[in-house]
Amino acid sequence: MQGRSRRTLFIGCCTACSAEEVAGKPVPKQDLSLHGLSASLSLKDLSVSLRGSNLHVFTLAELRTATQGFSGGNFLGEGGFGPVYKGVIGERVRAGMEAQPVAVKLLDLDGAQGHREWLAEVMFLGKLRHPNLVRLIGYCYENEQRLLVYEYMVKGNLENHLFHRFTSLPWSTRLKIAVGAAKGLAFLHGAEKPVIYRDFKASNILLDSDYTVKLSDFGLAKDGPEGDNTHVSTRVMGTQGYAAPEYIMTGHLTAKSDVYSFGVVLLELLTGRRSVDGKRPSRERNLVEWARPYLKDAGKLSQIIDPSLDGVYSIKAAQKAVSTASQCLSHSPKLRPQMSAIVETLESLLDFTDGIVGSLVFSVEPDNDGDEANEKSPRIAEINLETNLHFSHTEMRAGNGFLRHPLFSEKLKK
Ligand SMILES: Nc1ncnc2c1ncn2[C@@H]1O[C@H](COP(=O)(O)OP(=O)(O)O)[C@@H](O)[C@H]1O
Ligand SMILES: [Mg+2]
Repeated sequence: MQGRSRRTLFIGCCTACSAEEVAGKPVPKQDLSLHGLSASLSLKDLSVSLRGSNLHVFTLAELRTATQGFSGGNFLGEGGFGPVYKGVIGERVRAGMEAQPVAVKLLDLDGAQGHREWLAEVMFLGKLRHPNLVRLIGYCYENEQRLLVYEYMVKGNLENHLFHRFTSLPWSTRLKIAVGAAKGLAFLHGAEKPVIYRDFKASNILLDSDYTVKLSDFGLAKDGPEGDNTHVSTRVMGTQGYAAPEYIMTGHLTAKSDVYSFGVVLLELLTGRRSVDGKRPSRERNLVEWARPYLKDAGKLSQIIDPSLDGVYSIKAAQKAVSTASQCLSHSPKLRPQMSAIVETLESLLDFTDGIVGSLVFSVEPDNDGDEANEKSPRIAEINLETNLHFSHTEMRAGNGFLRHPLFSEKLKK
């Protein structure tokens, strides 16, 4: 079971303001779409705002049926704002409803923030549609209860795949995830009314059966600055280790804050290390601080690349990816690239094949014990490194290049 993920409140200040305002010349407040939506918004107001979004409005009883009474066996995970359960909607829940698996998030309404985050998710995900954003199917707003119903993502979140599994994600899968996540952010930043995601991290990146990325958890998302405004000033919310330093210091939020967080996740994918890891020696606890000295020098790749990749990756692509991460993590937001440029760079890396061995062919010699009459012939085993790396690096490749997996623990000859 996954514990509550870190989400930290740093400082407070809560309006949208511009460069002029900061310089002491107030300008009229902008009309952000979440502005004016009070905490006491009625169900009617909500359905008017979401007209045309085709969201289902569920009752609590229906969602109880869908999740078998929010049973422990259906528990999927928990972030800062409540548990998420697997469920199935369909005829049994409501007559005529198409059957499909769903994930149901139950908001923990301790404090006013809970309702606001719930509202932000409904409003953003209700309106935005993109292959790399999780689809919101509906919601429940009943008395004090606030729930959200999403499409179910079979492979759960990226954090679990990177840090809680014995198996290691292959290089091509890591790149695919980086590209998908970058496309999700690029879509938000490039929307007609740009959106800043604000809580980009591995536990908010969900994965479908084929590792297609869908960003979830829009509770902290914000409308981007409009007109002459250079940033949105807001209470600093986010997750330590992922949030951009200037945002933590000033509360000034821009799309480039998301780009910094993207750089952190890219570094997690490349190094296999967590953004903050209390179990490591103090100098290595903060991933960005530890990695910085290695980022500018392509020759130092081997010192930061995830050893569990076991050398099976394109060196050229990894060097470019490290350089992209380095740009995203620039101290100056202006030097960080736009997400659309990052998509282009990372997509081009998918074509690099140096260092990636398509498959290894082994001949497995049977132990015939000198019995020539009944001699068994060698068996040929072929392992596709990209698809079968889930046998894990330690099992698959000993230092001498032979397999160690139990299937091949007989005498091996390359
Ligand atoms: N649609 C989904 N499909 C599968 N698992 C999900 C889904 N949504 C959330 N989860 C699981 O629940 C966890 C918490 O969800 P999240 O939306 O991030 O909640 P919070 O707002 O509390 O952080 C995720 O990290 C993931 O493991
Ligand atoms: Mg979350």
